[in-house]
Amino acid sequence: MRLIVRIGLLLALPLLSFAQTPDEYPADYLSPAFHASRRAAFREKMPEKSVAVFFAAPQKVRNNDVNYIYAQNKNFYYLTGLEEPNAVLLLFKQPVTILQKTGTEFIFVQSRNPQREMWTGKILGAAGVQEKYQLNAVFSTEQFSGKLVDWSQLDTVISSFRNDQILFKYPGRGDILANMAASLDSALMGAGKSAAPTIAMNILQVLRGIKQPEEIALMEKVVNMSVEGHNSVMRSMKPGMHEYDAQAIMEYEFKSRGSEYVGYPSINGSGANTCILHYETNQRTLQDGDLLLSDCAAEYHGYSADVTRTIPINGKFSPEQKIIYELVLAAQDAAFAECKPGKQFSDPHAAAVNVIAKGLKELGIISSENQVRTYFPHGTSHHLGLDVHDMGRRATLEPGMIFTVEPGIYIPPGSPCDKKWWSIGVRIEDDLLITADGYKNLSAGSPRSVEAIEKMARQSSIFRKKK
Ligand code: GLY
Ligand code: MN
Ligand code: MN
Repeated sequence: MRLIVRIGLLLALPLLSFAQTPDEYPADYLSPAFHASRRAAFREKMPEKSVAVFFAAPQKVRNNDVNYIYAQNKNFYYLTGLEEPNAVLLLFKQPVTILQKTGTEFIFVQSRNPQREMWTGKILGAAGVQEKYQLNAVFSTEQFSGKLVDWSQLDTVISSFRNDQILFKYPGRGDILANMAASLDSALMGAGKSAAPTIAMNILQVLRGIKQPEEIALMEKVVNMSVEGHNSVMRSMKPGMHEYDAQAIMEYEFKSRGSEYVGYPSINGSGANTCILHYETNQRTLQDGDLLLSDCAAEYHGYSADVTRTIPINGKFSPEQKIIYELVLAAQDAAFAECKPGKQFSDPHAAAVNVIAKGLKELGIISSENQVRTYFPHGTSHHLGLDVHDMGRRATLEPGMIFTVEPGIYIPPGSPCDKKWWSIGVRIEDDLLITADGYKNLSAGSPRSVEAIEKMARQSSIFRKKK
């Protein structure tokens, strides 16, 4: 008997130490303290006598019985860190008592279920969430009811859940999220309370638009993964390969560095496809003389980069391609010069438009500078973070803001200019962090100049050996 116990222990020891290997999973997630600080910052900005309600994202069917990979609602993630579906967070300005707990933060999460966990993986459950995220009042969704709160003592309900029709899908058919949303909705209607989504959005614009140190550290990582993808594509492409080869190389480089997902569907357009701003088909065979516009980036722990490079497939820009490329580059440099605290969010865009308008007119591609939007139809900057087009105020630039600078020129076939410019589409997109006295280009590790791109095209990669 004793022997059996001893053997049992001996067998268990390596298992225990395996389970505790510190580097088994990434250790660089946002900390519980980060999420707690975001909830505190949100509460600070809430009006008196208010509650804010945040639902986890609904699961979405792709087809038949297969769901899309689950993506948490970014506001919910920002405030909790929880990546599981079927949950709701209630934040109160003043303490209240719910289910015998008094406080300002309450979260309801899905219960553990061994059968389901065997198919789709571990569910934390209330105890697990309490331990992992250091939240105090954690309950299971079975305990949720709209009647848990005396809504009459509250003046304002901050929530966008009524706008999200998908939350109400199939109520009463066992959908946990839909049932919670419906219960809350009927209780609110009974109390004559409406929900105020704009307050939540205004507060989150302010908070999410300024990145905290932990977020900046993740942004640096995800931008670096993306830069490695672009550099690998620069070293690998040649005529006869396909747009999807560029996508595959790019995404291999992201994934092999731990990226869980792409920040957005990868854009790899060649030839005339460079002129389609969000081209996602990626099926064409690359021809000698083509440009390839790759707008691709990784997502890591919820944060997305957004990087574009435009390269010549045969390794050398043609004279016309070089002229357009260097005009976009000059516009980007002019925009960079506007990136410092105190400038307006619109200043980099104005600088880029000015350079491109003058350049296109000098080249005779447009006859008047006010035609510039024909060939440069998009904005130059958007905030970047948990969403690729992130929340953030488009006002005075402040340290901690991260945004893109991405001018472009697109001349599709048939454009009213000399044919020699047709099928040239160029975008150069970098991710900038505003610092105390200027900016840091987080994506500077990927070459931007014609010479540096052509030099990198002469190097080998694991996908293509050069002599
Ligand atoms: N990748 C989308 C954008 O550049 O905004
Ligand atoms: Mn982009
Ligand atoms: Mn962008």
